[in-house]
Amino acid sequence: MALQANGVAFNLIHLRRPFLVKAVAPEKVSTSRVEAEKLKLGGSDVKVTRLGVGAWALGDTVYWNDFQWNDRKLKGAKAAFDASIDGGINFFDTAEVYGAGFFGAVNSETLIGSFIKERQKTGPVEVAIATKFAAFPWRFGRGSVVSALKRSLSRLRLSSVDLYQLHWPGIWGNEGYIDGLGDAVEMGLVKAVGVSNYSEKRLREAYNRLKVRGIPLASNQVNYSLIYRIPEENGVKAACDELGVTLIAYSPIAQGVLTGKYTPENLPSGPRERIYTPEFLKKLQPLLNRIQEIGQNYGKTSAQVALNWLICQENVLPIPGAKNAEQALEFIGALGWKLTSQEIEELRLLASQTKPVGLRGYENLLFLCSLGVRLKMRWDIKETNEAYRALFKSTIILIKTPFEDRLIAMSFN
Ligand SMILES: NC(=O)c1ccc[n+]([C@@H]2O[C@H](COP(=O)([O-])OP(=O)(O)OC[C@H]3O[C@@H](n4cnc5c(N)ncnc54)[C@H](OP(=O)(O)O)[C@@H]3O)[C@@H](O)[C@H]2O)c1
Repeated sequence: MALQANGVAFNLIHLRRPFLVKAVAPEKVSTSRVEAEKLKLGGSDVKVTRLGVGAWALGDTVYWNDFQWNDRKLKGAKAAFDASIDGGINFFDTAEVYGAGFFGAVNSETLIGSFIKERQKTGPVEVAIATKFAAFPWRFGRGSVVSALKRSLSRLRLSSVDLYQLHWPGIWGNEGYIDGLGDAVEMGLVKAVGVSNYSEKRLREAYNRLKVRGIPLASNQVNYSLIYRIPEENGVKAACDELGVTLIAYSPIAQGVLTGKYTPENLPSGPRERIYTPEFLKKLQPLLNRIQEIGQNYGKTSAQVALNWLICQENVLPIPGAKNAEQALEFIGALGWKLTSQEIEELRLLASQTKPVGLRGYENLLFLCSLGVRLKMRWDIKETNEAYRALFKSTIILIKTPFEDRLIAMSFN
């Protein structure tokens, strides 16, 4: 699946198509029940709710929000944050690159920081914030991790965060980054540290390097959902379970697709349209239908079934993204019940009829954009160099990245 960017901007302005808004499951999960279901992040002392909320879409204008941020979206994001807290969800995942810098974007950390401050006006707020270090190739050494973290803390208006993650492995300098995570813990700037988009091999290396200092690697955040079960196949899930590292599942509802609201006739907006194509969505219908049927038996929505399926994998913490209160409230209904093992396997089997598609390296685009180069750039992740060569007609620079052994191709025209 190819995403294409021309220059530093997507020239793909897609108007949002109308879709039917489904009813949110009326059942309310009590906040005490959500509280009771808390889990520890890996071997750390940080306890978070069994489900967190992702904040990538907050303020972003490159991938989400139809390339615009405005007051209405801000109000929706604030309402999502408040609804999560009111419903007992206390874990929020952001990153320094979310909403960073382009086309009227507002930094996601800055927004989260302001939402917390606003809530604090009415009393104490219990939140666990996770953010991430962007492993840009011009960032060297352990000091770069601590400096970036201090800037994140300043945007978040916090003195420490609960989890600091390396957003992706660097092209080089990874040992220094891991050492920087350890330094951040020892300086009291973070309570727990983790990685993201790490392969099994890198995960084990990071784990062992921190272990020498007596610091647990708390988490590995990777793409994991019913339709993207690569962590089950590439050894990442098994290694997380073996080492006691929490697997934080990003894009857990496949960017809205597993809610069933997108169809071949009603595609998602923006770059998602290129990932979740009409052909793919057509093939996915049997799975989506079954998810819906199972949900109906429990009085649950499809999103809640998809999230519950992940929660049932044990040692997995999904962090779905919410743009408004309705979406956030729906997530809470994924807690407090469980699919049967038969249903879990049936859904896995149905899902395996479709080849996994999903986001695997989008955020590399941010890195490329931030180079500020005036370029015509195409990028994708493909299994082989040959596939790239067939796909791109012009001069190619292939970069082998450490992301699950993926490749990024840039063509300079
Ligand atoms: N570490 C990494 O490299 C990485 C990469 C990706 C994401 N993440 C993290 O993971 C989080 C979640 O991933 P994600 O945002 O990519 O995907 P996701 O959680 O699978 O999907 C979120 C999107 O689904 C739609 N949606 C949410 N709730 C819904 C509901 N109840 N009913 C219908 N549609 C609903 C919304 O978009 P629409 O309303 O526009 O459809 C929303 O923005 C991110 O916010 C971020 O914190 C990390």
